Amino acid sequence: MGLLRRFLLACSRNERLARRLPRLGPVRRAVRRFMPGEELEDALAAAERLDDSGATSLLTLLGENVADRNEAREVAESYTEMLRNVEARKLPAEISVKPTHLGLDLGEAVALRGLRTLAGEAAALGNFVWIDMEGSPYLDPTLGLYHTLREEHDNVGVCLQAYLYRTPDDLEALLPLEPAIRLVKGAYLEPAEIAHPDKKDVDRAYLTLAGRLLDAVAGGRARAAFGTHDSRLIEAIRREAPARGVAPDGFEVQMLYGVGREEQRRLLREGTPLRILISYGPAWFPWYMRRLAERPANLWFVLRSAFRR
Ligand code: FDA
Repeated sequence: MGLLRRFLLACSRNERLARRLPRLGPVRRAVRRFMPGEELEDALAAAERLDDSGATSLLTLLGENVADRNEAREVAESYTEMLRNVEARKLPAEISVKPTHLGLDLGEAVALRGLRTLAGEAAALGNFVWIDMEGSPYLDPTLGLYHTLREEHDNVGVCLQAYLYRTPDDLEALLPLEPAIRLVKGAYLEPAEIAHPDKKDVDRAYLTLAGRLLDAVAGGRARAAFGTHDSRLIEAIRREAPARGVAPDGFEVQMLYGVGREEQRRLLREGTPLRILISYGPAWFPWYMRRLAERPANLWFVLRSAFRR
């Protein structure tokens, strides 16, 4: 892992920077590249534009590590409001939540309460809830939450990170549940004892996991979403799918709002189902630092907007 990437990921966890940097105009302007705005209305308007272009979407309210029960309850209420707005506007938008935003730091029972509320509300509205995967200390609790929730609801999915050595075993353990899985490379700073430090090993692990997931889709035992902008990986998956008995629209690619726009248009033209993750809300600092770390060249946009009038 590059030094700059490591530095940016360390910054993402720095509380003092989290308080100060978001006040700076250039940083606020640069973040707009990845986020349509801070309000729910901004996210819904973006989802409408994406719908017009043929893409579905995934909405997430930014925030993590909530340490207050009332706040955790308010986060669940915000997501409920989001689901109702999506329904009212007939948008093809699902939701994605971080367990620590729903209070996982306060105990699994707190996060489970929030997730149950959301899964129940989403089920009543014919919608779907995705659970993000955070740093490795939250892995086992998050998988535990998913197990419990999946036994109660069909409309829930979870994210798995290809950079972790243990993910092949976690995938096998989830398959009997007929899960929905979003496979990503992984966005957190993890030690080499538990995660592949080299990108090429992460990519190789991703492809192997993707094959296993496609087999489960072919057997009618999973829903697969490939959360990546890596066109080489996406091409390999698109080639592999028919060979494994999965139709070209039997899986979806998920990408982040504002990333890989050209690739997004190409996938839509070629008929691959594409879902765009739209993030919004005022608590964007750690999330934005992780986006910078994914492509340190994005720092250039921050600098450019610092000099723009
Ligand atoms: P890679 O990093 O190899 O990038 C492939 C190409 O895309 C490169 O050309 C690169 O420059 C470009 N690119 C990638 N990220 C960019 C960015 N931010 N800005 C500009 N260009 C960029 N992680 C996690 O740990 N838990 C989670 O729950 C999720 N959830 C999630 C949902 C969705 C829909 C996506 C797309 C991603 C996530 N992630 C995530 C993040 C994921 O783990 C990973 O960090 C990013 O997707 C970047 O990796 P890529 O697969 O895109 O490949």
